[in-house]
Amino acid sequence: MNNFTFINPVKIIFGKGQIAAIADEIPADARVMITYGGGSIKENGVYDQVIAALGNRSIVEFKGIEPNPHYETLMQAVNLAKRHRIDFILAVGGGSVIDGTKFIVAAMEYEGEDAWDILAKKVPVTKAVPFGTVLTLPATGSEMNSGSVITRAETKEKLAFGSPFTFPKFSVLDPETTYTLPLRQISNGIVDAFTHVLEQYLTYPVNAPLQDRMAESILLTLKEEGPKAILNPQDYDTMSNFMWCATMALNGIIRVGVPTDWATHYIAHELTALHGIDHARTLAIVLPSLLRYKQETKKEKLLQYGERVWGVSSGTEDERLEATIQATIAFFETLDIKTKLKDYEVGEDTIREIVRRFEERGVKNLGERADIQVKDVEEILTMSL
Ligand code: NZQ
Ligand code: ZN
Repeated sequence: MNNFTFINPVKIIFGKGQIAAIADEIPADARVMITYGGGSIKENGVYDQVIAALGNRSIVEFKGIEPNPHYETLMQAVNLAKRHRIDFILAVGGGSVIDGTKFIVAAMEYEGEDAWDILAKKVPVTKAVPFGTVLTLPATGSEMNSGSVITRAETKEKLAFGSPFTFPKFSVLDPETTYTLPLRQISNGIVDAFTHVLEQYLTYPVNAPLQDRMAESILLTLKEEGPKAILNPQDYDTMSNFMWCATMALNGIIRVGVPTDWATHYIAHELTALHGIDHARTLAIVLPSLLRYKQETKKEKLLQYGERVWGVSSGTEDERLEATIQATIAFFETLDIKTKLKDYEVGEDTIREIVRRFEERGVKNLGERADIQVKDVEEILTMSL
């Protein structure tokens, strides 16, 4: 096992009716800004529960954080929050609202000229306004991690940052808030969480059987509960299990002491940036080709994954590797998520554009062995055509 340090300070408040508990988590005299998306929280009662829990606190609202949150929108929120001297933010929504809020709290305290540099120039965040979250979409794990992915609409760039200052103070996970999710978002959430686990598991063995089995248990639970969530999206137990899987998939716990990949995410973000394809769908396009392309160096873990998660145990090594990748694709497709670029009407010109961008950005050494270069990215994407 590799050396590691681990800290996760996020308080999780899980279960039915738990939105009311935020009353005890936010200082009584806080000047609160609520951030949210396009308005789903107004239709499903979540907004009303949040307002009731905040009681007499002074509240400002910022509505309209879009999926794949835009820097341009978030800077408006920063200005509003500064004008009202906000000292606590409550993000209510999915990964986009939570990621957007992480950027807002960091940008409010940013002393340089342009907070975009936190993303583009990797300027470290040194302080941030405190914030909490009410999660309404199990998928990203953003509710229990410090990462954030922000899009600049003007240039179609989608970049990530993270900081010890951008962990939420608390996150409320009430599975009942997910009852109004469209099936498309449930499918997205399952595939995103599943891929988060694979990014931290399908690398090479370092004799870390506990991490392996924890990762496999999340995969097996998603495999079981995912299809149930599609069939019965208002079943409390199913949605509870799905929600907790998504959080556990990316809260840092399965990553400790093991190598991680993240090349699929890095490449896939470009497809959202350029074409607005849902995050999870871009992962489903890139992952199978990346696994095939790197199957030699990922062999041991791929075979283990195939056997323990999909029951692939017979045939030659090559046959088992292919059967494992096929089982992963079939799982995505049963969730109605397509895995080829052509399914999204994306062609070779996009691959050329991604290669051009990566060369310009100096992208190199992706993946757990730091051996994926721009020419490999081109081949992986070509395999996904
Ligand atoms: O805007 P509203 O009205 O809230 O509607 C949203 C949005 O249209 C809707 N929705 C959310 N909860 C709902 C609901 N509709 C009905 N009922 C509910 N309970 O769902 C739509 C999609 O929401 P969004 O927040 O965009 O989805 P998701 O949670 O999948 O977040 C995706 C974003 O997270 C980033 C992605 O890149 C993308 O920008 N990621 C963040 C990560 C992190 N911070 O660790 C890791 C991930 O890999 C990912 O990159
Ligand atoms: Zn993801």
